[in-house]
Amino acid sequence: MAQPRHIAIVMDGNGRWAKRRFLPRVAGHKQGVDSLRRCVKACAARGIQVLTVFAFSSENWNRPADEVSGLMDLLALALGREVPQLLADGVRLHFVGERKGLSDKVAAGLAQAEATTAHNTRMVLNVCFNYGGRWDIAQAAAALAACGEAITEQSLDRAMALAHVPDPDLLIRTGGEQRISNFLLWQCAYSELYFSDHLWPDFDEAALDEAIAAFAGRERRFGQTSEQLTPAVTQPVGQTAG
Ligand code: IPE
Ligand code: IPE
Ligand code: MG
Repeated sequence: MAQPRHIAIVMDGNGRWAKRRFLPRVAGHKQGVDSLRRCVKACAARGIQVLTVFAFSSENWNRPADEVSGLMDLLALALGREVPQLLADGVRLHFVGERKGLSDKVAAGLAQAEATTAHNTRMVLNVCFNYGGRWDIAQAAAALAACGEAITEQSLDRAMALAHVPDPDLLIRTGGEQRISNFLLWQCAYSELYFSDHLWPDFDEAALDEAIAAFAGRERRFGQTSEQLTPAVTQPVGQTAG
């Protein structure tokens, strides 16, 4: 059974999870951190090599100020709490996104967490925070232009924020919406898309296994035909069946 090497997830639905319980939206985000912890463990246990999650988009700054500050506080809190377990589980943490715009405290926390887990080799966890797919393409092009390098698919690939991992095989979005919302625009060119109606706090191991099973049933053609991928077994000339 084909297993994805790299799973990317748009963790959507925290706000609705909270609203259904008459709780503030930030309570949904807190529950979302618990769900992420469970998902990281489950992916590591299943031998997934890379997990990339969308935690805060370039556009999420447009949310109400109390929600934005609640998310920043939650990130700082989670960094302190979760890093020891990631370390114990062999997970290497990367933060992907624009650091400018984050407070000095948050930025220092991210750098510290990355340094602490840098020698881990079991699984890579990319947390996309203050990330946008358009930002990523633009920053990669700007970096190449600044050093006078030609812009090609290969050079852009190397300058992109996820250059340290292969492209996602499977892109999951929870919460029922079927859109990309400026996530990995460049890298998901050939990712298999999977949309789950579970709100992110409810996305458990069984839901993850359903997504992985759906992936296993897909035929990835990368522009080729089905026949090219599985050439028919042709019968040698002169032989009859039976
Ligand atoms: C995703 O959950 C988390 C972030 C965008 C930070 P939402 O907060 O978007 O949840 P819904 O979509 O409003 O339910
Ligand atoms: C995408 O979810 C961003 C994250 C999950 C971090 P949104 O909730 O921001 O997406 P839209 O606004 O519904 O497209
Ligand atoms: Mg949402």
